Amino acid sequence: MSIILAPSILGGPFSNMEKIIKDFDQSEASYIHLDVMDGDFVPNLTFGPKFISDIRKYTSKTFDVHLMINRVDKFLQDYINAGSDIITFHIEVNENIESNLQYIKSKGLKSGLAIKPDTNWDTIIPFIHLIDQALVMTVEPGFGGQSFMNNQLLKVEEIKKLSKDKNLTLDIGVDGGIDDLTGPLCINAGANVLIAGSYLFKQENLISATNELNKKFHNV
Ligand code: DX5
Ligand code: ZN
Repeated sequence: MSIILAPSILGGPFSNMEKIIKDFDQSEASYIHLDVMDGDFVPNLTFGPKFISDIRKYTSKTFDVHLMINRVDKFLQDYINAGSDIITFHIEVNENIESNLQYIKSKGLKSGLAIKPDTNWDTIIPFIHLIDQALVMTVEPGFGGQSFMNNQLLKVEEIKKLSKDKNLTLDIGVDGGIDDLTGPLCINAGANVLIAGSYLFKQENLISATNELNKKFHNV
């Protein structure tokens, strides 16, 4: 599986989003990770479909949309119309999982299921044939800037093993606390999509920091 860096915009100032998206567009990262939070599934609010469609014009990079919302079925069409390329939602929502995944795929998008740190990895098994990406949360979803949870690496290893055994082409993403040290641990465990937010925004130059991290991950 190819290694993909997915910068998350959550760590940057939303007031400056045009510049941030244009910077990521110029970088070597292939995805842009967009965190949608509803203040209900997670204790934080971010943005909705209008924001995504407004920034769509600044880049042709893959929009990797991470829905941390409860009413997935109600809003799915809006996120598809907004220009998402990949839509990942949480297995813990526990409602219409199969039909939502089927709907995403029927519209020609890639689908993903995310699992919170306390959720067992094997809960995704019944849906594995319907997903392109398994997203292992390496922090409790809701906020950027938290510390990486080492104990989630086992989950990555288990999913990787399952994917190999079943001969699947499944992307395995990791989200939360990813930096130049934790990213390589995840790659060694079997992850290939690395979402990084606050680490990139802490560096002096967003484009060169993104390119350097991308290079580092490709050399693991
Ligand atoms: C957390 C979000 C992450 C977040 C990662 O709920 O899903 O995508 O942006 O940010 P960092 O890299 O700061 O942990
Ligand atoms: Zn995310």
